[in-house]
Amino acid sequence: MSQATMKEFLDWAKPGSEESRLAMQLDPERIPRHVAVIMDGNGRWAKRRRLPRVAGHRAGVRSVREIIEDCCRLEIGALTLYAFSVENWKRPRTEVETLWGLLRHYLHQELPGLKKNNVRFQVIGRIDALPQEVQNDLDFAMVETAANSGLQLNIALNYGGRSELVDAVNAILARARQSGEPLQVDEATISSHLYTAHLPDPDLLIRTSGEIRVSNFLLWQIAYAEIWVTEKLWPDFRTCDLLEALIDYQKRERRYGGLGEAAPSVESEADATLVGVIPGKNDDAGEAQNPRPSSLHKFPE
Ligand code: FPP
Repeated sequence: MSQATMKEFLDWAKPGSEESRLAMQLDPERIPRHVAVIMDGNGRWAKRRRLPRVAGHRAGVRSVREIIEDCCRLEIGALTLYAFSVENWKRPRTEVETLWGLLRHYLHQELPGLKKNNVRFQVIGRIDALPQEVQNDLDFAMVETAANSGLQLNIALNYGGRSELVDAVNAILARARQSGEPLQVDEATISSHLYTAHLPDPDLLIRTSGEIRVSNFLLWQIAYAEIWVTEKLWPDFRTCDLLEALIDYQKRERRYGGLGEAAPSVESEADATLVGVIPGKNDDAGEAQNPRPSSLHKFPE
């Protein structure tokens, strides 16, 4: 993140605010490239208020909007949100249907804001199994934002880390069968067949609601991620919580099994690809064609 962006963020946060106090502790040079979030606790949030579980999911949409806006302001390269796991089909049918309805509503309402903020929207998971009308809306949002060069937003839907690895292995086998060449697999081969092949691995994994587990999320990709868990339930997650996570992340010494900070030796080609689109790393090339908006568009409430 550039100093100018930091200044813009501080202007937005307003002098004297908690957001501003926290943001001043951030090192603009060490903003993570990719943040992944396990959004947990919607059901408990609703239960505490004696509301139906789906009220918690509805309230969670505000936190989704806020973290996306924050990531845009902080020039985080990629954000991956775990919205629906392969195991979530076990929930009551009405809850599952409400989640798809909420997602569709979210897409209709927020797409203009995503476009204005230069967000590129993508999904990861076994998308073919989702209701057709949900797939259509997702496709539309992906096409509409495909040329954007700002935040790469990934929503994980019908996602499982193990199924992703199974899909990757099957894709590698299919390619080997087709080419007829002897099969030799290394880490880069697997990384390049994951749903996240175009992205660097997450630097930071955030989980809300206090549970200390990874719940089958990005199992391969979080090998070296820093994990930050908050007791806050997802609908209560605000800008200050993200800033606290980032401050804590910046205090950690990342050794990747070695003795000092150095990226792991095997990285996917995607690292280079995304570095190319993160403003600040490559300002001259990316910004001229598809500039970040100078002032952030507010998503509708
Ligand atoms: C986990 O809480 C949350 C989910 C399974 C769904 C997340 C969905 C949203 C935040 C809303 C819509 C998303 C988008 C991307 C627009 P839980 O129900 O497991 O909570 P609990 O553990 O307290 O029961």
